[in-house]
Amino acid sequence: MEGPKEIFLADYKMPYYFFDMVDLKVALREDKTTVLSRIVVCPRVDGMQLPLVLDGHDLKLISIKVNGKEVEKECFQLTPQHLTLLSPPSSSFTLELETEIYPLKNTTLEGLYKSSSTFCTQCEAEGFRKITFYQDRPDVMAKFTTRIEADKELYPVLLSNGNLIDQGDLEDGRHYAVWEDPFKKPCYLFALVAGQLVSTDTIFTTQSGRQVSIHIWTPAQDACKTAHAMYSLKAAMKWDEEVFGLEYDLDLYNIVAVPDSRGAMENKSLNIFNSNLILASPETATDADYDLILRCIGHEYFHNWTGNRVTCRDWFQLSLKEGLTCFRDQEFSSDMGNCGVNRIANVTSLRKHQFPQDAGPMAHSVRPHSYIKIDNFYTATVYEKGAEIVRMYDTLLGKSGFRKGMDLYFQRHDGQGVTCEDFFAAMCDANGAKFSNFLLWYSQAGTPVLKVASSYDFEAHTYTLKFMQQIPPTSGQPVKEPMLIPVAVGLLGSNGKDIPLTSVYNKESMLTFGSKDRPVSTAVLHVEKEEEEFIFSNVPEKPVPSLLRNFSAPVHLVSDISDDELFFLLANDSDEFNRWDAAQTLARNLILSLVDHAQKNQALIVDTEFVSGLKSLLCDPNLDKEFIANAITLPEEGEIMDLMDVADPDAVHRVHYFVRKHLASELRTEFLRAVENNQSSDPYEPIHEDMARRALKNTSLAYLTSLEDPDMTELALNEYKSAANMTEQFAALAAIAQNPSDIRTEVLSDFYQKWKANDLVINKWLALQAYSDIPGNIKNVQLLMQHPSFDIHDANKVGALIGGFCSCLVNFHAKDGSGYEFIGDVVLQLDKLNPQLASSMVSALSRWKRFDMGRQALAKAQLERIIACNGLSENVYEIVSKSLANSSMGDSSI
Ligand code: TRP
Ligand code: ZN
Repeated sequence: MEGPKEIFLADYKMPYYFFDMVDLKVALREDKTTVLSRIVVCPRVDGMQLPLVLDGHDLKLISIKVNGKEVEKECFQLTPQHLTLLSPPSSSFTLELETEIYPLKNTTLEGLYKSSSTFCTQCEAEGFRKITFYQDRPDVMAKFTTRIEADKELYPVLLSNGNLIDQGDLEDGRHYAVWEDPFKKPCYLFALVAGQLVSTDTIFTTQSGRQVSIHIWTPAQDACKTAHAMYSLKAAMKWDEEVFGLEYDLDLYNIVAVPDSRGAMENKSLNIFNSNLILASPETATDADYDLILRCIGHEYFHNWTGNRVTCRDWFQLSLKEGLTCFRDQEFSSDMGNCGVNRIANVTSLRKHQFPQDAGPMAHSVRPHSYIKIDNFYTATVYEKGAEIVRMYDTLLGKSGFRKGMDLYFQRHDGQGVTCEDFFAAMCDANGAKFSNFLLWYSQAGTPVLKVASSYDFEAHTYTLKFMQQIPPTSGQPVKEPMLIPVAVGLLGSNGKDIPLTSVYNKESMLTFGSKDRPVSTAVLHVEKEEEEFIFSNVPEKPVPSLLRNFSAPVHLVSDISDDELFFLLANDSDEFNRWDAAQTLARNLILSLVDHAQKNQALIVDTEFVSGLKSLLCDPNLDKEFIANAITLPEEGEIMDLMDVADPDAVHRVHYFVRKHLASELRTEFLRAVENNQSSDPYEPIHEDMARRALKNTSLAYLTSLEDPDMTELALNEYKSAANMTEQFAALAAIAQNPSDIRTEVLSDFYQKWKANDLVINKWLALQAYSDIPGNIKNVQLLMQHPSFDIHDANKVGALIGGFCSCLVNFHAKDGSGYEFIGDVVLQLDKLNPQLASSMVSALSRWKRFDMGRQALAKAQLERIIACNGLSENVYEIVSKSLANSSMGDSSI
């Protein structure tokens, strides 16, 4: 048997054989599907006599021919993972393979499977090998033609990549369609769909006048919920033309919504999405859903250039397409909505998902050095930290320099599979820039700690910032090198305004910003060394520094800024992100000190200045309402725990709850006013102004109901009853559901009765109950697993209920280990059905070393129990074995 095998970047070799053309014939049938594949194979070097190794999983080989002749038994080798042609011809030849597959038995959501009544595929990363034997690697790129055959009544719509070139009827009520994709592509971008679907259609005219037919395919009853997805796609197409000069390259763009799939997938001209990332109506989707749909539609569309036209050489380069495309979707969302608020959302997500990963046993660099299952590396590190790396080029080069770099990247690499170095080289070469130690961002894991000390010279009118960077050790990387960190800095004068910056010196050079007559308010410092000093001249008074503006690098900033200075920044900073971050830092400091008090059984007291700081934000009519909602929201419990030497979920939860309640009671009048002033009976629109209004109202309502005051519950109940859209209805439900009460029970059941026919809404209802911090809620979660609305075969439901439960600190980390044991049980059950999903669930246990000895022992016992099981998937094996082996290496508090 071929056991779990680690694959290393350092072992990369070019393929011995290229595939030129691929002709697929897929005959879909319920019991078995046959796949005929005809491939034109070219040896990379003519005359080479090396075996051709094809990947294949769960396939039944029926026949194999070379140049039309059946291959003799002794000329090939078949193992559970591979088909090897031992001595193929030494120059171009055609290879014909016939295989059988059983899509109805496939519960893994990769390869060819059935989602509800639709046949669909998911090939990224390595799913194509479950459809037919192939060199399943992204540096093998071919032109695909696909003929699909199926029953006409059950599967009237047959789709694949590219253009429809032929279709017609066959005997026995069957029909066929032939699709041809003119662009070479890796097989991970192959897709096929067959089902009873209807399309919502429109036409987009590109800047050069190409008429693109757009179709969004859904079951008939959902066609009424595609308007926002359609709007989002057209907006994305236009944005990419305007911002990057990138145009769509075919006459057809299909998007299919299916209930079962992991996220969304950028298959060439045939995107396949989970329904929850397409379908929206004001009654059933929240503002957050609308935002997510915009982002995801944009993300998959942007992949057409960053991922498809220019693809990855190998899977280690995953961030080349994902980091870049994630950056592009962030910028798109930002341009379509509010940029400050979007940046806050990006960084909140990075801190919540990526920073903990970078500090734990699964820490890996943005470009991993090795993996067992690449599926496990579709992580916050590859996507979000990867996007931060791309953003740093943008910060260092400016918008126009970044655009030049992008242009050169496409000019050089269109049609190729490339590496992160190629992207770096295009950025540098297009700008004549040399970023000496920047590439280390791709290879060094761990979040850098950037310490800053400041001093002002009253006589010389100079202001000095001294930086020290340290990157914590992570598994396999005990020692790190310093790397280039762009630090955007502004200096505030006592009037609260930015002091104009003209020049700054470090030891070697003088950097000049603007000029004497055209000074700048923000300077981007290039911090490159372990220790480095920057001296600003012409600073007339001792300033308050605004550091790392707009979060210019993904680091932990540790500065000597006092709380008083933070309050000053909170009130005055021209950088919206840093205003918000000042509030977050103040809240973190406060909560951490109260946690210390709580652990010592001392009284909990909230600083009045903190309350009044938030109060002035809440009452400031000039601020964006969504910004206010973000600024008055406390950092999450998990973020606080990560700052402790030994994470104490009970103390953190108690303090967090206390501070929330305290704010609610101190600012009750202001919160009530915010709820009242932000009501509206206008029809729902997913535009920033309205979303911001709802965000402020809903945040305020949640504070008020935390008071457990019957009047406030009544207020929320009225909101629930009168809500005309899901955003407000669900927010009111969540507000009421914070505390146990009869009303809670009634409203939850009322909501279920209203929405039980709508899976997407019911998933919200499941998640809300799952992450509830009501003591002992695990019992309710276990009951919900038996509820008619739950189905362990449905990945969305598992994500909602099980994923929701893992995100509830107090109950998941219950002292008695009940949460850990529950997850252990579920993971073992899920691993048989869907290994990718099982491994994402088991990740919740990976940071067990962060806790006290009692919890450590209980969590470790579950990991050991899982790894002792026979027949474990490689996906789960990788996470569990690394969680056990690397636990002491990476895992530290921040
Ligand atoms: N490339 C997809 C994206 O745009 C990621 C993805 C979607 C994926 N579904 C998947 C990766 C299934 C692996 C397996 O982000
Ligand atoms: Zn992507």
